[in-house]
Amino acid sequence: MFALGALVLSVSMGALSYFTTRHILVDQRESAAVSDAFVNATYVSQHLAATANIDETLTTANKVTQYSHSFLEERGTWYRGTLQVTQDAIPASLRSMVITGGIAASQTYSLHGTPQIAVGVPIKSIHGAYFEIFDISSLGHTLNVLELALVVLVVVITALGAAFGRWASGRSLHPLTSVSRAAVAIAGGDLGTRLASTAGDPDLAALTSSFNRMVDQLQERIEREARFTSDVSHELRSPLTTLAASLEVLESQSESLTPQARRALELLAADVRRFQRMVGDLLEISRSDSGSAEISLEEVDPGELVRRAVAAAQRTLPIDTAPPHVEVDPEVHGTHLWVDKRRFERIMSNLLENASLYGGGATAVRVSLGNGSGPVHSVRVSVEDAGPGLPPAERMRVFERFYRGHAAFKRGAGTGTGLGLALVAEHVRLHGGKVWAEEADSGGAKFTIELPGQPAEAAEDEELVGGNGPA
Ligand SMILES: Nc1ncnc2c1ncn2[C@@H]1O[C@H](COP(=O)(O)OP(=O)(O)O)[C@@H](O)[C@H]1O
Ligand SMILES: [Mg+2]
Repeated sequence: MFALGALVLSVSMGALSYFTTRHILVDQRESAAVSDAFVNATYVSQHLAATANIDETLTTANKVTQYSHSFLEERGTWYRGTLQVTQDAIPASLRSMVITGGIAASQTYSLHGTPQIAVGVPIKSIHGAYFEIFDISSLGHTLNVLELALVVLVVVITALGAAFGRWASGRSLHPLTSVSRAAVAIAGGDLGTRLASTAGDPDLAALTSSFNRMVDQLQERIEREARFTSDVSHELRSPLTTLAASLEVLESQSESLTPQARRALELLAADVRRFQRMVGDLLEISRSDSGSAEISLEEVDPGELVRRAVAAAQRTLPIDTAPPHVEVDPEVHGTHLWVDKRRFERIMSNLLENASLYGGGATAVRVSLGNGSGPVHSVRVSVEDAGPGLPPAERMRVFERFYRGHAAFKRGAGTGTGLGLALVAEHVRLHGGKVWAEEADSGGAKFTIELPGQPAEAAEDEELVGGNGPA
């Protein structure tokens, strides 16, 4: 818009000054020509009274003014002080106006593409007329130079307008850019983001302070909620432990109970255990929500890590579950991972437990390289089963808290809480990795986690205990 404004303004100013200048110059030139012609006409008429040599008189008159040609008409006969042009160069209308009309006149016109001014003056004493044509092409050159200068000026002013517009809009939009950048960072989970203070600018200061106040409140609210979940889980833990211990005592004497009471006791025990697990999982999730989760990273070999985790998870599964085949892609050798072993074991046990609950047991656990580029590869671990799989609509939702898919209800299994995969996602996020569900080749479910690899030397300098894990 600035460039357009500058263009319109400079073009109109340029055109105005061009036409005004041209008008003035042509006017000046014309009046100069007219007065020159009158002087020459007077000279010619006086000279002719003394001598009868018309040609010589005209040649002398011609020399007085440069770039002009003189003619004399006397009773239908033409004399000229030049060899270059004939009287035909004088416009016919001017000739007849001066000769028959008997009045002095001038005319600006173009002859073979060059601008000319013709002036005619009647000389009563000899019943003739004096004509003179002036070449004004030098005026054309002057105007061309002016034209060029104005075009250059228009271009320069337009460019300056564009540059100024860019600078000014960049300056005025800068605060909006930083607000949107901060909003993106906050949406991405970085609640500590604030706008830099703009105390110098009263308009911006209001925006900055209300934005920062809003984020403060948001952060406080989120933290309060995370604390609340964590506090509730904490408070529930000790009564639940007492309850579980008492149930164990009762279970040890279940023979002395009636069959009905024993059944009731079994149901109660199952629910208390499920409740205990839920509270444990909730506590863990709320810790990572409030940012107080600690992650202790160790350098490990991916194949070794997965084999151990699978073996550990296997011990918590029903005894009749067949152990899955662990397949390590040879490409993975030499790649190192920095992981929190406890969290990794939880990830594997949750995935294997799901495979056993909903997919008839895991069929394979595969370790391979991620397809990222660069010197450091990420590592993928996938758990497959040959069960019914996940409907596409559920593949994202299963990672939500308390979400239980239709596989869970089909089996009528009351053991799950819907927190297993949410916890997996949380552990993976703490490692800077990602997790997703897809369909296995067999048609069953396939859960894949991808953890970023770390170059062995670079990771050494890193703090091993922190809130966020490797980037
Ligand atoms: N291997 C699997 N095959 C089919 N469905 C699965 C599988 N693993 C998870 N699911 C679905 O994802 C849901 C969420 O899993 P999860 O978060 O572990 O909760 P839970 O196991 O307590 O139900 C399950 O209820 C189930 O419907
Ligand atoms: Mg589960």
